[in-house]
Amino acid sequence: MLIKTRRTWELPESAATPESVYMNRREWLKGAGFAGLGLATSGLIGGGMAGTALAAIGGYPFPRNEAYELDRAMTDEELATTYTNFYEFGSSKNIWKKTRKMSADPWAVTIDGMVEQEMTLDAEDLVTMMGDKQERLYRHRCVEAWAMAVPWSGVPLANLIKVARPTSGAKYLRMETFMDPKVAPGQKQAWYPWPYVEGLTIEEAQNELAFLATGIYGKPLPNQNGAPIRLVTPWKYGFKSIKSIVRFTFTDQRPKSFWEELAGKEYGFWANVNPGIPHPRWSQKTERMLGSDARVPTMIFNGYREQVEGLYANLGITDPRALYY
Ligand code: MTE
Repeated sequence: MLIKTRRTWELPESAATPESVYMNRREWLKGAGFAGLGLATSGLIGGGMAGTALAAIGGYPFPRNEAYELDRAMTDEELATTYTNFYEFGSSKNIWKKTRKMSADPWAVTIDGMVEQEMTLDAEDLVTMMGDKQERLYRHRCVEAWAMAVPWSGVPLANLIKVARPTSGAKYLRMETFMDPKVAPGQKQAWYPWPYVEGLTIEEAQNELAFLATGIYGKPLPNQNGAPIRLVTPWKYGFKSIKSIVRFTFTDQRPKSFWEELAGKEYGFWANVNPGIPHPRWSQKTERMLGSDARVPTMIFNGYREQVEGLYANLGITDPRALYY
């Protein structure tokens, strides 16, 4: 995944904001005129506020949805939460301590573009409005050929579409991560096309597997895993699963994602897991489960063929590689 081998930034742990400071932000925002945001029905304010922090998400553990089972051992919690990709904080896997500077509590999310009414609301209110809180066990396959199996807590992404009420011309859902180089100094690295952006077709976003995670292992997401709200699309390579989302935009233009912008021949829009199509620089036939050196075979659509194959049947794509990178 690494594109340039420059030395990454180093944030001294002492620079992290003490929890006691950022826990007070919701109170501060209320004082600044955002009172009333706790009401689901009136939890809307005008656009243009993406990234303004408003609230966290509670209520764990969410009830397990038994329809989503694993055929492999669950990854050890410590591994899944300390071996992470979050380029905003550096390009190594060991950035979890550096994410402490980020405050995911509170957090504002904007829904805009081709929708009946644009809105900005706090993440907790959005999740409450979406309903259907649940836990799902999913495989996760990074394009770099490591894999894990984890319990995500969250809500179906399809429910976001119900809340957003896109207009009939909307064909894609574009998602964006926060942008704040003071908190995430990886964003000072100008050769990356910040902010991190990802996109799905509306049909993909409505697929039963597409999930907005707010927690992992029955607890709120730690910052390094994309707090307070991230995408999970288990049939796609992990880079599609954008973290710490501040904006959902409905559009008729196919979004150009972060990695596609950076290296379009290596990381394309569709990014569906396929062991038969090698990455230009390595094979995708096998994967390494976190915590093990043994390699196991990779499965088409990461094992979710039945649920998603139909999404791609009638796209008129003649070169199959287009669906994978
Ligand atoms: N989202 C943002 N904003 N920044 C990132 O660097 N990395 C992606 C994805 N989402 C990334 C991101 C990649 S490459 C992967 S494999 C997954 O997050 C990793 O998720 P995890 O660290 O929770 O395992």
